[in-house]
Amino acid sequence: MSFPERVKIVEVGPRDGLQNESETVPAEVKVQLIEMLVDAGLPVVESGAFVSPKWVPQMATSAEVFKQINKRNGISYPMLVPNLKGLELAHAAGVQEIALFAAATETFSQKNTNCSIAESIDRFNAVIVEAQSLGMKIRGYISCVLGCPYEGEVSSDTVLMLAQKLFDKGCYEVSLGDTIGVGTAGQARDLVEKLSRQVPIQHLAAHFHDTYGQALANIHAVMQCGISVIDSSVAGLGGCPYAKGATGNVATEDVVYMLNGMGIETGVDMDKLLEAGRFISDFLGREPVSRAATALLRKQAG
Ligand code: HMG
Ligand code: MG
Repeated sequence: MSFPERVKIVEVGPRDGLQNESETVPAEVKVQLIEMLVDAGLPVVESGAFVSPKWVPQMATSAEVFKQINKRNGISYPMLVPNLKGLELAHAAGVQEIALFAAATETFSQKNTNCSIAESIDRFNAVIVEAQSLGMKIRGYISCVLGCPYEGEVSSDTVLMLAQKLFDKGCYEVSLGDTIGVGTAGQARDLVEKLSRQVPIQHLAAHFHDTYGQALANIHAVMQCGISVIDSSVAGLGGCPYAKGATGNVATEDVVYMLNGMGIETGVDMDKLLEAGRFISDFLGREPVSRAATALLRKQAG
């Protein structure tokens, strides 16, 4: 059994987390959250999305948020982009890294982006060509890799086809989304083993939502396959507006607690991370959705 010595955590709370909130979160609050996450040592903080504000109103302030962040050297602030229009808006705001997304089932692709899988490939190809000409870094996501809220089981061949296309076209990383958190450890491991025969493992990332409480087990399983990039969301914020009932990503606090215990470096300061989680949870008026955060905050309170 071997595990990576170091894991890169991609914090997605300000985007994946907040996109699903019904209450408007002001740009200043998002900016403060992003700054606190960077202060905590997170090297990548996905900070918003240039998607249709009619589809996802919560992300409508993304240009404002991006402009207000005090960008620090060596930190990435990727923004989600679904099409050329989104790319144009991201570029105008000064964004240097984008994240594209596709889905492994036809129904989810339609519900999330109003197009078929084939059309989504044409779209992301066009965005990649243009983004490359602008010198941007590009990350890719695939949704529903371990199950779809509409179609149930998902073909790993479709996931593989999309992963190869995203990687071959120029995404430096392809993040595997268990959008509704249904997968279990054996499935996660089998999928990653299959994909890593075609896409080098160092270019794959795990993006597991924790709906069924399986995310940490799945992360543990795929780290043994060599995955060393993990997406997570502070305080377990989030869900996908087009995957009803899906809860947030695995909580960053839970991931950091597990990795600390395993002696795997992340560069994240748990106390500062807890502060960031507390800040956004207080704003939203609820407790963090993280077992580790809840226990550690209780301990701090004595
Ligand atoms: P559409 O309605 O088919 O778009 O939506 P359209 O091209 O027909 O344009 C309609 C109108 O939208 C036009 O405006 C466009 O200008 C405008 P009008 O002429 O009516 O005034 N428009 C835009 N405005 C702002 N930004 C844009 C944009 N594009 C068009 N980028 C579209 C197609 C893809 C835009 C829409 O379906 C969309 O925005 N979808 C995004 C949904 C979303 O954000 N979902 C959540 C993120 S994905 C996720 O959470 C999964 C992930 O975490 C991984 C995992 O967990 O699985 C990544
Ligand atoms: Mg997600």
